Order: sequence, then structure tokens, then C-alpha cells
Amino acid sequence: MVPGCTSHTSKGRNFRRPKFTRKPTQDSAMANEYLKAIASRRTIYALAKESTISVSRIQEILTETIKHSPSSYNNQAQRIVLLLGTDHEKLWEIADETAKKNLPEEVYGYLGPKLAGFRASYGTILFFDDAATMKPYKEKHPGMPFDQWNTHSQGMLQIHTWDALELEGLGANVQHFDFLPGFAQVVKDNWKLSEDWNLHAQMVFGKPTGGPGPKSFDDIDGKRLLIFGDKR
Ligand SMILES: Cc1cc2nc3c(=O)[nH]c(=O)nc-3n(C[C@H](O)[C@H](O)[C@H](O)COP(=O)(O)O)c2cc1C
Repeated sequence: MVPGCTSHTSKGRNFRRPKFTRKPTQDSAMANEYLKAIASRRTIYALAKESTISVSRIQEILTETIKHSPSSYNNQAQRIVLLLGTDHEKLWEIADETAKKNLPEEVYGYLGPKLAGFRASYGTILFFDDAATMKPYKEKHPGMPFDQWNTHSQGMLQIHTWDALELEGLGANVQHFDFLPGFAQVVKDNWKLSEDWNLHAQMVFGKPTGGPGPKSFDDIDGKRLLIFGDKR
């Protein structure tokens, strides 16, 4: 049980009264706060081995984001593993060993210090999906692009998580070292995770020791955003 969560179990039944419930009424002020949160999130690489919040609060954030992020047919195949302390460090040691073994020397020369930076951060969130959960959906609806939709669900879950961590004063960046041959398998073996799990991303986080890099924005109106129809 996460401290602060207003739920309890009685006689084996869960009488959960969630702290975070749907807000069906219009609330433009809250919408603006949400848009501000979206605008606040950035990729941060300079991260300390410290957190601005407790582990139980991180657990609460992950519980809420995985619960409320949508998935096709509500399949809920997304999985999260939170690595802290020496487990977090172990992940980046695995990445370092795999990179050194598989990449040309000049590429490893560039990546090595980046990997050391990730190891020096506070924690990593691993994002997976579970192929076993998807199997009946794929059998029942052949031809439906579930793998593509799963990547959409991953993005939705990851951005919710990233935004929430950022609002708690943490910095984060998202990595994809699953491109390294054998990396995902060693990760699954090391933490005894299901063979059916597919690794999508590694979100490194910690207390920021520096800000984000510069970011430019392409034109939006008429280029990235088109509107057709009556604007009444
Ligand atoms: C789908 C996706 C994949 C990304 N992959 C990586 C990655 O593997 N490594 C990395 O350092 N950043 C990665 N990024 C971060 C982007 O480079 C970054 O989000 C983009 O430059 C915009 O900067 P911002 O996050 O500060 O807004 C990824 C972002 C997205 C959305």
C-alpha cells in the first residue's frame, strides 16, 4: 500500500476509494495548468543521484499513470519496472558492457560517457508491453495493427509519467538501448522478468543539476496544425 493513498482492504475485498478520480465538468483553469505542465517537460541529462520526492510517491505516480493511460480495447498490456539504487546502476553497467561488445569503438567512445551519466542518476523506469496479454486480442481481431497501437499506448504512458515526475521537480530523459543486440534479454534475465515482455524504453530520472538544451519550434499554424470547417 502506498502511503497517502486512501484505500483499504476489508474481508478480502478491496474497498478502494481512489484519491485521483475523473473530473467530468469543464475546468479551463485546470486545462491551462495541464497545458503548462506539458510545456514544462523537457529532456534533462544533468541529473543527480538524488530524488526530490519519496520512493512511495514515485510508486504512487507510476500506479496512477499506468492505471489511467489508455490502451486499444483497454488491453492494459503495459508493464513498468522501477529500478533504484544498485539495481539502477546495474542496468547501466549492462548497457555499457553491451555497447562496448557490439558497437564500433568510435561510437562506444561517444556513448560511454553518456552511459556513465545515466548510471550517476537516481533511478530508471523500464517500460514494457506483455505479448501474452496481447495474444487473445490478436487472435480475436486478426489483421488489427495491435503492435502499432501498443507503441501509441507506450508513448501515452511515458509522457504522463514524464510530466508527473517533472511537476515533482525531477528531471528525466528517455533512452532506447533496446536497440543493442541482447540488451533486453540480459535485462529480462537479470530481473527474472517474463519472456513475453518487450522492452520499449528506459526513462532515467533524478534531481536536475542543470537545465535542458535549446529547443526550436517549427511553424504550427498552417503547417503542423491544419483546421478545416466553420470556426464558429
Ligand atoms: C519517441 C522518442 C524517442 C526518443 N529517443 C531518445 C533517445 O533514445 N535518447 C535520447 O537521449 N533522447 C531521446 N528522445 C528525446 C528527444 O530527443 C527530445 O524529446 C526532443 O529533442 C525534444 O526535446 P524535449 O524532450 O526537451 O522537449 C526521444 C524522444 C521521443 C519522443
